[in-house]
Amino acid sequence: MPTTVRVNLGERSYDIHIGSGIGVGNRWTESDRVLIVTDSNVDAILGAQVEQAIAARGATVARTVVPAGEASKCLAVAANVYDAAIAAGLDRESVIVALGGGMVGDLAGFVAATYLRGVRFVQIPTSLLAMVDSSVGGKTGVNLAHGKNLVGAFHQPVEVIADISVLDSMPPREYTSGLAEVVKYGIIRDATLFERLERDGDRITRIDHATMQDIVAQCCRIKADVVSADEREGGLRAILNFGHTMAHALEKAGSYAGMLHGEAVAAGMLYATALSCRERGLDGSAMSRVSNLLRALNLPAGFADAGHDDAGAANWPSLREAMGVDKKTRGGVPHFVLANAIGEVSVGHTIAEDALRETYEEMVRS
Ligand SMILES: NC(=O)c1ccc[n+]([C@@H]2O[C@H](COP(=O)([O-])OP(=O)(O)OC[C@H]3O[C@@H](n4cnc5c(N)ncnc54)[C@H](O)[C@@H]3O)[C@@H](O)[C@H]2O)c1
Repeated sequence: MPTTVRVNLGERSYDIHIGSGIGVGNRWTESDRVLIVTDSNVDAILGAQVEQAIAARGATVARTVVPAGEASKCLAVAANVYDAAIAAGLDRESVIVALGGGMVGDLAGFVAATYLRGVRFVQIPTSLLAMVDSSVGGKTGVNLAHGKNLVGAFHQPVEVIADISVLDSMPPREYTSGLAEVVKYGIIRDATLFERLERDGDRITRIDHATMQDIVAQCCRIKADVVSADEREGGLRAILNFGHTMAHALEKAGSYAGMLHGEAVAAGMLYATALSCRERGLDGSAMSRVSNLLRALNLPAGFADAGHDDAGAANWPSLREAMGVDKKTRGGVPHFVLANAIGEVSVGHTIAEDALRETYEEMVRS
């Protein structure tokens, strides 16, 4: 049986359907004109099947395929998608479907937010990260040469359909990377979820569908709660950035480039946990629980696992500089989300420079 999670946002409320083999939903009518946006990898596996399933409901369906990879999340590719929307005869009543991971969701969502000043948008997330994170919450956007997600809009989908069985074809490293965001939900909001992840590592790594349906649904409930309370990132939504200050720095800084986002988030969460022990009196056992869980899920459980060598401290200046230019910093001073306990965090913490550096150095040495 599929699970349904409601995102409560007044007239912009919508359902997330999570299950195995759940198809494309039944919202489609004969008067619908639909454009499916997907990437080249996902298209080869699911494109024709999803197009046929929506067309079988009577809708008029077209499909446009962008090259797989983050480079497609840009204005030039968005312009090609607008052209595809015009060629498919999409009007104000039409629907754009994002079929893919977070890259496709952000790109197609941005086009849906802006084409004819906004058309309906359905998310069919196919990566774990997209299911638990990017398809929920309405953030859409593209990258500029100057940085990621610099142009965008809030545009909520009208429905999200997460079919767990499509995770079977994910490249293992991409699937594992998505698990970092799952761990994050446990740390920021749900100690019971964290305990379940500790218990069910084996089922999770082999993508047991029933287990993953439960876990994806719980992550969506948490994100839905947070987004419902703070749709436009005025306050609570900041807790979703746990581990991300260091993660963004790792993604930018020289010797870590090439890490997947989730791998950087894993190392960043461990750093935030270490800062929490030092600055917030978080119980020391939390540090070993977080690192043991990350390791059990095949994620980096430290800076060494994240591709670091013994040069350690030499890397600090570039990491610290990268932290200072993160979008979420104010005046070059990073603000951290820190854990008070597993399952509970607080936001807006500034930390002394020595503590930032020493914590990093201790982690590199350990
Ligand atoms: N809007 C938000 O709130 C939000 C939140 C987090 C991340 N993001 C964005 O999401 C993007 C990252 O998402 P992602 O990790 O899903 O990356 P992605 O969309 O690039 O997908 C990763 C890779 O997996 C492939 N793939 C996806 N599903 C597959 C499947 N079922 N089978 C086989 N291959 C599959 C893709 O083709 C791609 O090669 C970034 O652009 C990031 O900025 C957005």
